Amino acid sequence: MRPTILAIESSCDETSASVISNGKVLNNIIASQNVHHKYGGVVPELASRAHQRQITDVVDEAMRTANKRPADLDAIAFTRGPGLMGALLVGGSFAKGMAWATGVPLIAVDHMQAHILAHFIESPAPSFPFLCLTVSGGHTQLVVVKDYLDMDVIGETQDDAVGEAFDKAAKIVGLPYPGGPLIDRYAEGGDPNRFRFPDSDMPGLDFSFSGVKTAFLYFIRDAVKADADFVQANLADICASLQSSLVNMLMNRLVRAARQTGIREVALAGGVSANSALRAAVREQGQREGWNCYIPKPEFCTDNAAMIAMAAHFKFLQGEFAPEDIAPVPNLHFAD
Ligand code: KG4
Ligand code: ZN
Repeated sequence: MRPTILAIESSCDETSASVISNGKVLNNIIASQNVHHKYGGVVPELASRAHQRQITDVVDEAMRTANKRPADLDAIAFTRGPGLMGALLVGGSFAKGMAWATGVPLIAVDHMQAHILAHFIESPAPSFPFLCLTVSGGHTQLVVVKDYLDMDVIGETQDDAVGEAFDKAAKIVGLPYPGGPLIDRYAEGGDPNRFRFPDSDMPGLDFSFSGVKTAFLYFIRDAVKADADFVQANLADICASLQSSLVNMLMNRLVRAARQTGIREVALAGGVSANSALRAAVREQGQREGWNCYIPKPEFCTDNAAMIAMAAHFKFLQGEFAPEDIAPVPNLHFAD
């Protein structure tokens, strides 16, 4: 069987569709939402409405540029969760409607599994078992990937996600949402050792970012009290120092996990893996530790439907189809 599958992603603030045929991703259409910037974060209600407005055009373009008609499809896939309930409902309902109209099965995809399976869109792909650090706006996880659909979470954040820490810190210094990429850009040329923000004392392989966020908030508040121009005058050093603290927190757990498991195939996934300091740290540490490192290109790191299509391909081959009454699960976790 060489399945052709249409996949839809709508978990947060990107409306995306992709067509995969015989395991090869044919396109990756993404419509970002620019309605959230002024609020400093994603507004769920606005996200749902923007998905509703954009989804028909996005799916249409994916089908047209893949040169496929509905009759060519063998399945329709969608993101089941985790994500925002209203946003998930838009993609899920659209997928259900299309599956019903075309008479093909539905495939429900776990968004976090899909971030990891983005590694199989292009080669070289990691070999099993590999260790994946998945870092996004909603999640921070260390995962042992034993097979395409067989994964164990061995560490995760107990509070905020690292992307959230980037975005909240950016908001504190007055940068618009999403602030992660801006911190990355302003950090260029800054001194990463000028200011220090503490790591949490989380034991084992779990993460915590709420402490560093609060420390950053108080640090900026006190510094601005003493000098109103502090942020403007020191933005590069502030961004570089914060970025370096967050990257060190991630790297400490990643190195610990690699040593504990003995796995040397090491991968990064999720939106924050677009961060230049994190990419460099993984490659440098990888050389010292003897890892083979894998980092998807940025288009496949941030939210996209190509990764949902890739996951759907593997689920199709295993015959993992969803029942007609399947519903979104906003806090879906691997085991569900
Ligand atoms: O995976 P993703 O697109 O969406 C979620 O599933 O959450 O990740 C989005 C997150 C946002 O927090 C954004 O600020 C962060 O990824 N991000 C970055 C960079 N690019 C995206 N954080 C730091 N540096 C970047 N270059
Ligand atoms: Zn994501």
